[in-house]
Amino acid sequence: MVFGKKPKSIDLNVGDHFETVFWRNEGAQKETFPFRATHVGDAKSNKVILCGDRSMPLGKPVRVKVNRVKRPQSDGRGFIEVAYQGPVDFQIDPQIWVEKNIASKLQVLLEGGYSILLDGPQGSGKTVLSRAIADALEMEYIYFNCASVYEATDFVATLQVRANADGVAETIFISTNFRVALMDALEKPQNRYLVFLDEFNRCRPTARNGLMPALDTTRKIYDPETGDLLDIPGNVQFIAAINNGDQFVGASSVDPAQMDRFATLKLDYPPHEAEVNILAGRFPAVDKKTIGIVVTVANKVRDDDTVGADLSLRATQEACAMLGHPLFSDEMKSQEAIREALATAYCGRFPGRIEDEGSEAGQIWSLVVKSLNELKA
Ligand SMILES: Nc1ncnc2c1ncn2[C@@H]1O[C@H](COP(=O)(O)OP(=O)(O)OP(=O)(O)O)[C@@H](O)[C@H]1O
Ligand SMILES: [Mg+2]
Repeated sequence: MVFGKKPKSIDLNVGDHFETVFWRNEGAQKETFPFRATHVGDAKSNKVILCGDRSMPLGKPVRVKVNRVKRPQSDGRGFIEVAYQGPVDFQIDPQIWVEKNIASKLQVLLEGGYSILLDGPQGSGKTVLSRAIADALEMEYIYFNCASVYEATDFVATLQVRANADGVAETIFISTNFRVALMDALEKPQNRYLVFLDEFNRCRPTARNGLMPALDTTRKIYDPETGDLLDIPGNVQFIAAINNGDQFVGASSVDPAQMDRFATLKLDYPPHEAEVNILAGRFPAVDKKTIGIVVTVANKVRDDDTVGADLSLRATQEACAMLGHPLFSDEMKSQEAIREALATAYCGRFPGRIEDEGSEAGQIWSLVVKSLNELKA
């Protein structure tokens, strides 16, 4: 049951969701529950609503879930204990396109405390989306690139050699930004942290295993600096990103036990119209018809099974960046400019030369030329 505006009756049960606004609790239970609210939606609650989650934002509409309903005792009025779920106005930056049901799933899963795995082709927005989510949820964003992880301990600290004041070599641990964020999160329970584990399938599979207890209910990770286990506090959440596919060199598949610790969301490139709008917003100097051609040709390449190449939004952006420049827009005929831009932005990222039909670049060029000719017809 979800209460938005005015509920008919306020008979709350464990698991119910509702909207409210929290303030500092100056009452008797303020140590355990530093925050209190008085309303369920627009209606006054007959029991005080208490929350112990220190990351609860004060004075803003939030959504909460009922954890416990304490019936009135002879010594008091009873209370409702809730868990913070997220702000009411969860709004991902409109510049980032994300399928509506993926956005809803993201919100629900993050509110449920799940770790999320974004699985999508290169340049489909995994990285920009993770940052936009952190902004929408007012979380601190920690970007961690897993491609530089060789040992499990590399997630937390790296061992470095340096000369001390006497010129003698000594080894020291340098905390990663992930460890720094964990320490910060333990110290500041009022803040929320989103750790983005980018290129999750580009670290050694055995190293990745070291992170597994951090992602399940154990919520601990070995800390080489102290030789002890480090707690992952509840105000830290994870989003990881992978490109799953045979064409990715240096990537290793994430095994089922590792996958099982995540709720996986599959991303894809935006539909034609959405990609045209993204590009039109970023490249106002390029007319919309030309952008339409750029995207149509990109989709022809993406959809072609024989070449099996993905063209990211980086490629379509690169093409538009060229087409918007006076060297292209003023000095070349439109058709010539498009051909030049696509030869570089689409074919240049693949091995071989456009003249060599046997190479990947050559095959993509044939597709580009074919679809440009079709568009002219
Ligand atoms: N859905 C999208 N909405 C808006 N911009 C996008 C979207 N997808 C990609 N882009 C743009 O394309 C570029 C690449 O996006 P991003 O780095 O997020 O891709 P990625 O999926 O993380 O790629 P990779 O797998 O290579 O790391 C960025 O400039 C981003 O702004
Ligand atoms: Mg990325």
